[in-house]
Amino acid sequence: MRILITGSNGQLGNEIRVLAGDYPDFDFMYTDIEELDITDPLEVETFFIKNLPQVIINCAAYTAVDKAETDESKAYLINATAVANLAKSAAGIGALIIHISTDYVFDGKSYLPYVETDKINPLSSYGRTKLAGENAVQLNATKGIILRTSWLYSAFGNNFVKTMMKYGIERDSLNVVFDQIGTPTYARDLAKVILDIIPSAINITGMNLFHYSNEGVASWYDFARTVITFSGIRCEINPILTENYPLPAPRPFYSVLNKSKIKETFKIKIPYWSDSVKDCIQRLGQ
Ligand SMILES: NC(=O)c1ccc[n+]([C@@H]2O[C@H](COP(=O)([O-])OP(=O)(O)OC[C@H]3O[C@@H](n4cnc5c(N)ncnc54)[C@H](OP(=O)(O)O)[C@@H]3O)[C@@H](O)[C@H]2O)c1
Repeated sequence: MRILITGSNGQLGNEIRVLAGDYPDFDFMYTDIEELDITDPLEVETFFIKNLPQVIINCAAYTAVDKAETDESKAYLINATAVANLAKSAAGIGALIIHISTDYVFDGKSYLPYVETDKINPLSSYGRTKLAGENAVQLNATKGIILRTSWLYSAFGNNFVKTMMKYGIERDSLNVVFDQIGTPTYARDLAKVILDIIPSAINITGMNLFHYSNEGVASWYDFARTVITFSGIRCEINPILTENYPLPAPRPFYSVLNKSKIKETFKIKIPYWSDSVKDCIQRLGQ
């Protein structure tokens, strides 16, 4: 099966590259903006017709959440308009598109884990553009899967785990918010699930929405403490309130995702979040 990865130099794309050898039946094509700029509809259509991928995993995105507040048009171009380009061209060749979305489509006012049918109400520019990307798949794809995930980190790129390790070494103490609750998600676990579900997902039709994160619940403070402890770094982590750490983009206070639908549909098991943090830190130390 021929599988195209767009945005393959990012966290998720790189984790798919690492796992690719475990999937000998898949023929992977990796592209990032230099090989395939997904904001160019003609380039996308031409590439698809020439290479005929059967599955497109869209790992490309504008992920600078705070920068998006003052750069919404660029975020929209990559997170929504470009997703429409991919979905339309995928439909044109009968391919399945697997697109990644975010917990930031929710406003975080719930106190129960969000299911796929819960009301969406993004608080930030980033969240609005990602929601528009979901709608683009819904409108244009004939075979589409959207996976909403949260708090992504990996052995690649910039992310919370690497930031905490860096600052933890440089400083004696760090202040981290404890009133935002969600679930860290290891991009390697997400990558594995995406590749594992493809043989059954290839037969789906229409647009199918699933939530995926690691298991369990944490605050950013818990996440930071776990990173510091597993890294063997001596640094005190102090819990603070979001109001004492203002950022340009508002975040949902609660964005735990309910994963029942994806677990039941594809019979998957999901690792507990701190077990996966440990795995990532071990890899970073190698
Ligand atoms: N990171 C999180 O905490 C988080 C949480 C929930 C959901 N998600 C979603 O998960 C998905 C994967 O996230 P990630 O953290 O792996 O993203 P990432 O590391 O930021 O990678 C995105 C990749 O897309 C590339 N890209 C940007 N514009 C492009 C274009 N026009 N054409 C082709 N490629 C382009 C980027 O290149 P440049 O680096 O050169 O821009 C980058 O290599 C995204 O859909 C994201 O919205 C992320």
